[in-house]
Amino acid sequence: MSRSAHPAGPRHADVLPEGHYSAPPADLNALDPKVWARTVARGADGVVTVGGVDVKTLAEQHGTPAYVLDESDFRARARAWRDAFGTDADVFYAGKAFLSRAVVRWLHEEGLNLDVCSGGELTTALSAGMPAERIAFHGNNKSVAEIRRAVEAGVGRIVLDSFQEIVRVAHIAQELGTRQRVQIRITVGVEAHTHEFIATAHEDQKFGIPLAGGQAAEAVRRALQLDGLDVIGIHSHIGSQIFDMSGFEVAAHRVVGLLKDIRDEHGVELPEIDLGGGLGIAYTSDDDPREPHEIAKALTEIVTRECEAAKLRTPRISVEPGRAIVGPTAFTLYEVGTIKPLDGLRTYVSVDGGMSDNIRTALYDAEYSVALVSRASDAEPMLARVVGKHCESGDIVVKDAFLPTDLAPGDLIAVPATGAYCRSMASNYNHVLRPPVVAVRDGVSREIVRRETEEDLLRLDVG
Ligand code: LLP
Repeated sequence: MSRSAHPAGPRHADVLPEGHYSAPPADLNALDPKVWARTVARGADGVVTVGGVDVKTLAEQHGTPAYVLDESDFRARARAWRDAFGTDADVFYAGKAFLSRAVVRWLHEEGLNLDVCSGGELTTALSAGMPAERIAFHGNNKSVAEIRRAVEAGVGRIVLDSFQEIVRVAHIAQELGTRQRVQIRITVGVEAHTHEFIATAHEDQKFGIPLAGGQAAEAVRRALQLDGLDVIGIHSHIGSQIFDMSGFEVAAHRVVGLLKDIRDEHGVELPEIDLGGGLGIAYTSDDDPREPHEIAKALTEIVTRECEAAKLRTPRISVEPGRAIVGPTAFTLYEVGTIKPLDGLRTYVSVDGGMSDNIRTALYDAEYSVALVSRASDAEPMLARVVGKHCESGDIVVKDAFLPTDLAPGDLIAVPATGAYCRSMASNYNHVLRPPVVAVRDGVSREIVRRETEEDLLRLDVG
């Protein structure tokens, strides 16, 4: 669509309304490597490629919308986490960020462990060949059936989340004639600097057992007395999309404090601590995430220092990154539909997906970037809001971003950093079908999760 097709619309940076954005970027065709998967590049013809495959070919072969995942980037990030922590620590990928059988196989091959938080995730992990002893089972309300399956499968650890669960897991393990390795999840009372829905270390919430008031110490006391349990450590997860390391420092300090109290009271030095996941990624060029080796160094130093001060043997550390591994490795590819310029405000660009494939903007006020990827453009920047096709005005994918004024229906645009918590939180709202996850590597693309079909919808509708 040419610029003159929208004479009344907000075209230039000098008519910008209030919003969450910085100045238009100097070059709308540039792709900031901070927010795009590693093999993403714009070819000489202006078309963006990933893993050696261009987005027009991807759209032709797999349709839109589609989550496009750079497999070599995923593997590289997984390896970077494993290597950063070395052999003295364990990295558990948090499957809730995005899980499929291909992902489980990649993790297995790259030497990572896996954190699952439901029977469904456990089944996916086991069915793709992840050894049970490399699986940690989480959740604040695991069912008896889920616990039984996890114990029977021989998972490496169950992370206990309540007093009731301590007893429940102990009984089931005893019934099955085994001792289950467990960690006890505590809340250390840290206010993580992130959205309140994804902060998990303050006390007034559903996860974990508060350190405050001696409750965590009491939980350890009870767990140590039960024959069905082998208490291997303490777990703390302070929240998600966090950039500031100070929350982790306070958490490590308090967890080690509890280990010391346990040693003093019971004469037992628990051999492991898990500091959870939560490391932030760049969704826009304004975000500055830490590299895994910096995080590993910081966490290892804090724990070692705290343990020396408490005269404790340094426990084996584990971490559970989800978003930081998968988040940056994928983008969502959409086709542009209706374009609606609103005078003095912004241009609404509708795409063929929306809040059903990315609920994060509506749910957490998350910020994303966007780029025209099926061609380059020298047109002026316009302030755009990328919206979906759902019957809801909050159906926003990207709140404020700049796209070229010659954007037209049929163009392909892509939203980067959608690898984590987009497919895994996708819905069928308005009976919109969930997009496929297309893995791309060395010039080859393949669906690792296929597109949902109308037959899939009708198959569940048995009334
Ligand atoms: N470990 C535990 C116990 C967790 O609860 C979580 C995330 C993680 C590890 C992984 O956190 P990550 O490294 O991915 O930040 N849906 C929200 C995020 C919810 C996180 C839930 N727990 C979002 O889209 O931002």
